[in-house]
Amino acid sequence: MNESAPIRGGNVVPTNNLEAFWMPFSANRQFKEAPRMFIGAKDMHYTTADGRQVLDGTAGLWCVNAGHCRPKITEAIAKQAAELDYAPAFQMGHPKAFELASRLAALAPTGLDHVFFTNSGSESVETALKIALAYHRVKGEGARFRLIGRERGYHGVNFGGISVGGIVGNRKMFGTLLTGVDHMRHTHDPVRNPYSDGEAEHGVELAEDLSRIATLHDPSTIAAVIVEPVAGSTGVLPPPKGYLKRLREICDQHGILLIFDEVITGYGRMGAAFAADHFGVTPDIIVSAKGLSNGVIPMGAVFVRDTIYEAFMQGPEHMIEFAHGYTYSGNPIASAAALATLDTYREEGLFERAKALTPVWADAIQSLKGTRHVIDIRTTGLIGAVELEPIPGQPTKRAFSAFLKAYEKGLLIRTTGDIIALSPPLIISEDQIGEIVDTLKMVLNDVE
Ligand SMILES: Cc1ncc(COP(=O)(O)O)c(C=O)c1O
Repeated sequence: MNESAPIRGGNVVPTNNLEAFWMPFSANRQFKEAPRMFIGAKDMHYTTADGRQVLDGTAGLWCVNAGHCRPKITEAIAKQAAELDYAPAFQMGHPKAFELASRLAALAPTGLDHVFFTNSGSESVETALKIALAYHRVKGEGARFRLIGRERGYHGVNFGGISVGGIVGNRKMFGTLLTGVDHMRHTHDPVRNPYSDGEAEHGVELAEDLSRIATLHDPSTIAAVIVEPVAGSTGVLPPPKGYLKRLREICDQHGILLIFDEVITGYGRMGAAFAADHFGVTPDIIVSAKGLSNGVIPMGAVFVRDTIYEAFMQGPEHMIEFAHGYTYSGNPIASAAALATLDTYREEGLFERAKALTPVWADAIQSLKGTRHVIDIRTTGLIGAVELEPIPGQPTKRAFSAFLKAYEKGLLIRTTGDIIALSPPLIISEDQIGEIVDTLKMVLNDVE
């Protein structure tokens, strides 16, 4: 694949040199030896460069909730690009960003009425952490500088996110990170909660970590705690029963803001608009991205309680209230894509569809119990995890082999450590759920 064009002006101009692109979160050398390229997509399938159809078991990267190349969304993007391609995001506006924010506020849990736009989950996380710190400061509680995360949490890749995040591999290379951060223990407990469906039976007591940490540091120094309602990237860890509610209580007791990172659980994945609705626990801030624009155009949104927004709306009116924002916050084309995405979700009843499919999905994925290498399975909403026994001395190798084999057999899965994670578009059919299970059985019987 490394062929080069003729020499032009003394330089060799590469025509298709795989070396130039430093791929994110990828085994670059392995990929470039045997590239896996998608060149098209429609609904539930990708088309590969060699003309094969691959069933999308992961909604791209947990983002294509409405399925691929949906007409309403592609048309909205084309129309917007021709009409108003860009408008400055600072001190200027355009109607679609306001319309989108209003639609989102109506979709979000009651009280989370204000929306700050970003371009990704990572930026949404940074934005939420900064809002939390600044909120306490504008209220005269500047001593609240600490942020609490959780082991095995994933909050994107920027410095705030990796600081509150709990994935060692994502943190260890990057120096001192943010100071004033502490972590609760994770809730992964397959011994007490084997083959769990929905909320885990055991582990509510782990929420008391927040009390302990608050007591250790003095609660009046803590600004916020951030958790994924269902931890996704470290292998799908549904919360123990009562856990999120208890976090809410402890936060209320100590004036700590509760942030839910709903980058993967938002926009229907749990069979409701947000996991907050599904679990019946309302945080103070919701971080979202991915499914917001169906993954088609980068976009994120941070929802805040009206009391938080109002706390900033003080002082002289010509002054900027919050010194934060991105060139592309509320970008017109992204806003148009997100509006069309929300229309598609509503018109096709996709959140309700996900809810109705949840038990079918759970039964199907849980039926992999007993398959070779499988040591645990977790299902919740339209999310599943199949945990494999690692090859001794070679962690992650078995799951990676399963990923390659599944791709060969026409199924896209994702792996993290030795865990296979599944999160299909919400338009998946029951037959396609069956196909995922059958393919995984074949794959697991094939891999070493
Ligand atoms: C919970 C969570 N937060 C944040 C992110 C980061 O999102 P992005 O990759 O869009 O920056 C992700 C991405 O998977 C995520 O799962």
